[in-house]
Amino acid sequence: MFENLLTHTESGIHHIIINRAGKLNALNRATLAELHTALYDAFNNDKVGGIIITGAGDRAFVAGADIAEFASFDAAQGEDLARRGHKNVFDFIENSNKPIIAAINGFALGGGLELALACHIRIASENAKMGLPEVTLGLIPGYGGTQRLTRLVGRGRALEMILTGDMITAQEAYQFGLVNHVVSQYDLLTKAETLLRVILSRAPLALQSAIRAVNASSQQGVNGFEEEIELFGQCFDTADFKEGVDAFLGKRKPEFRGK
Ligand code: COA
Repeated sequence: MFENLLTHTESGIHHIIINRAGKLNALNRATLAELHTALYDAFNNDKVGGIIITGAGDRAFVAGADIAEFASFDAAQGEDLARRGHKNVFDFIENSNKPIIAAINGFALGGGLELALACHIRIASENAKMGLPEVTLGLIPGYGGTQRLTRLVGRGRALEMILTGDMITAQEAYQFGLVNHVVSQYDLLTKAETLLRVILSRAPLALQSAIRAVNASSQQGVNGFEEEIELFGQCFDTADFKEGVDAFLGKRKPEFRGK
């Protein structure tokens, strides 16, 4: 169905695998467009509870935006590239109604790290290398890296990574709080699936609201506390809330329906 992605759904988990192994899964325009479509379909598919994004092969998650493709761009084209990417892929992921985990299986550089940063949770394999090397090309990160990395690891560490362009190891990324877990490459997908399964056993509408409320903490002009209060209130009108409380009081496992 897709030229640059492999996708499949298994027991509620939708896998999106960036599949341009010959180019270390670099994000060209066609791949970004396919990613948007794959995400849109998954967000609107009732059979999908959550998503795992990873890269094909054992070398790269995504080695960045496709450098060859923007080699001759001018300022207007560069700005347009970034703006479209933010809207169609990176913000789209962050604001998803379903949890998305990045399983970082190798190089996550430039747009590749920014893709992982847009996801809700990141897990890395021991061989993963992460960095924002844009300054080595005369650029800066353009898919949200300056903002999301700074929020995640703090200004000092973000500036060191962005200004040197150097890569960090999975272990350093773990120490920075950039990734939540580091596991062997062999265990990477199992770890991501196990974590997502726990999340998907919880009330779907509550997950959706939790993502929105957490995202509100970093949105300009939005009062995150107010957002939380309103979303908290709305939970009380859901059937899942009644089910959750009923199950707790009845000492049984809840059966959430996302209603
Ligand atoms: N855009 C386009 N092509 C890319 C790419 C990118 N971001 N990253 C890797 N590739 C391509 C290479 O051009 C090469 O293609 P070729 O075989 O047709 O020549 C292929 O992927 C393999 O990469 P190669 O550089 O030969 O592998 P390596 O093991 O020597 O080095 C990296 C791996 C990741 C260190 C190196 O590919 C690299 O620095 N990539 C660019 C990273 C970057 O700057 N990303 C940010 C972009 S904004």
